[in-house]
Amino acid sequence: MLLGPPGAGKGTQARMLETQLGAPQVASGDLLRNAVREKSALGLEAKGFMDKGALVPDDLVLKLVDARLRERDAQTGFILDGFPRTVSQAETLAKMLDARGEKLDRAIALGVPDEEIIKRISGRRTCRDCGAMYHLIYDPPRNLNLCNSCNGELYQREDDAEDTVRMRLQVYAASTRPLLEYYERLGLLSLVDGIGRTEEVGNRILNALGRGTKPAAAKGTA
Ligand code: AP5
Repeated sequence: MLLGPPGAGKGTQARMLETQLGAPQVASGDLLRNAVREKSALGLEAKGFMDKGALVPDDLVLKLVDARLRERDAQTGFILDGFPRTVSQAETLAKMLDARGEKLDRAIALGVPDEEIIKRISGRRTCRDCGAMYHLIYDPPRNLNLCNSCNGELYQREDDAEDTVRMRLQVYAASTRPLLEYYERLGLLSLVDGIGRTEEVGNRILNALGRGTKPAAAKGTA
């Protein structure tokens, strides 16, 4: 499970880990954005919360995550990205895993300071077609508005406006950061410094999972 504030690099790292661990990324934000794009009843209800930078009500998120985890590719493991987001979601997840005879291996909390988060989010561009992610400065596409992989249009997420990002940071501090203590108490938490090249951060995560080949992980705050 990847925890951390908005823009900490959870999605970037989850996609890299998919190949290394052979397990699919299950990102609640992506599931919600798909539901919004499809204009499903759930998506239309969720949109108002997402546009404000607020959390979407648990019942809607849980419905999507539960359905995703029942898919075939998630039967032998998965990488959670952005879920759970509250202690109540974490308790529900524990019950869901228990019912499947599974357990959480590790909660990785990526630590990135707020000023870096604002830079990362304001430069983020995402492909409308394949979901590939870029950063205008740190990982620029070859062509400003087009995806390197599929030539799809690159767009900026609606909730990435600066005011909404500040609201998302407040929501993280109030509702999600308490999860660090929750997983610490369960002996499952690893704090990983999210600053550095994406490959460096990825190696720290693999080390925290006991799968790395490099020296011990650096510590950080989330
Ligand atoms: P969600 O989509 O989960 O957004 P988030 O948690 O705010 O995280 P982000 O996707 O913004 O960032 P990230 O950490 O994945 O960073 P990324 O890899 O993209 O949620 C959106 C909304 O949906 C929520 O506000 C809420 O309304 C709702 N929601 C979702 N889950 C919910 C839940 N469980 N319960 C209730 N509501 C829920 O990286 C960011 C940028 O930085 C990119 O441009 C990337 O290229 C760049 N970058 C990444 N790593 C590095 C690096 N090491 N160095 C330099 N740049 C980097």
